[in-house]
Amino acid sequence: MERFIVNEKEFVEQAERWIFSKIQAVLETSQRCHLMLAGGATPLPIYQRLGKRLDIPWSRINLYFGDERCVPVDTSESNYHMVMGSLFPVSRPDGMNVYRMCGEENPDMAAQVYESLLPVRIDILLLGVGDDGHTASIFPGSAALDEEQRRVMPAIASKPPLQRLTITPRVIQEAEHLLVMVQGEDKADAVRLALINNSVPAALALDGDWLMDSQAARSLPKDKLVGF
Ligand code: 6PG
Repeated sequence: MERFIVNEKEFVEQAERWIFSKIQAVLETSQRCHLMLAGGATPLPIYQRLGKRLDIPWSRINLYFGDERCVPVDTSESNYHMVMGSLFPVSRPDGMNVYRMCGEENPDMAAQVYESLLPVRIDILLLGVGDDGHTASIFPGSAALDEEQRRVMPAIASKPPLQRLTITPRVIQEAEHLLVMVQGEDKADAVRLALINNSVPAALALDGDWLMDSQAARSLPKDKLVGF
C-alpha cells in the first residue's frame, strides 16, 4: 500500500516502472501474467511507452479490461479502441491473448461471458479515478458497490456513455498487485474523498498503490502524507 506523489513529468515514467516491475515479478513465478487495464485518458501515454518496450514478453501476458463503455468497438469512446491503439498502434505482438469486454452486445450477457473468461485472480490491476470518485465504471451510488457475488456486471455511468460494463469490488479487492493512477487538480477532491474520507467508490482501492501527481494530491492533509 504505497503512495507515490510525483511531478507531472515523472508520472508516466513512474507508472511504467511500477507496471514493468510487477510484470517481471509475476512472470518469475508464473508462466502467464493476467494484466487488467484501466480505461480513460490518463493511462494512454503510459500504454504508449509500454507498447514500445522490447523487454516485455507480451506472448506471456493475458490482457483484460476493468470496464468498457457499451459502444461500438471501433469508436473513440471504446476503452478497447483507446487502449489497444495506444499500446500497439501499428500491429499487435504475436501470441497475445487479449480479452475484450463486448460492450456492443447485450450488457447482461456480455457481463456473464466476460466473467467466465476471467482468471481466478488478476495479477496486476490498473485503475483510474474520475472527478466524482468513480473507479472502473463503479460510480457513486452504483449497485455494483453492493455486489458481492458477480465479478463483472452492467453499470450505469453518471456521464456518457451511460451504459457500461464493469468489474465489481471483488475483483479490485482480490487483485494481487493494484495501481491507481490519478493526475490533475480536477481529481484532487476525489482523491481526498477516497483516501481520507473513504466515501467514494475509489476507496475500494485503498489497499492498492496510488500514483498521483502533485495536483491530484493537493487536497490531501499534509499530516496524512506520512508514508506517502
Ligand atoms: C472509463 C474508465 C474510468 C477512468 C476514469 C478516469 O471507462 O472512463 O475506466 O474509470 O479510469 O473515468 O478517466 P480519465 O483518466 O480520462 O480522467
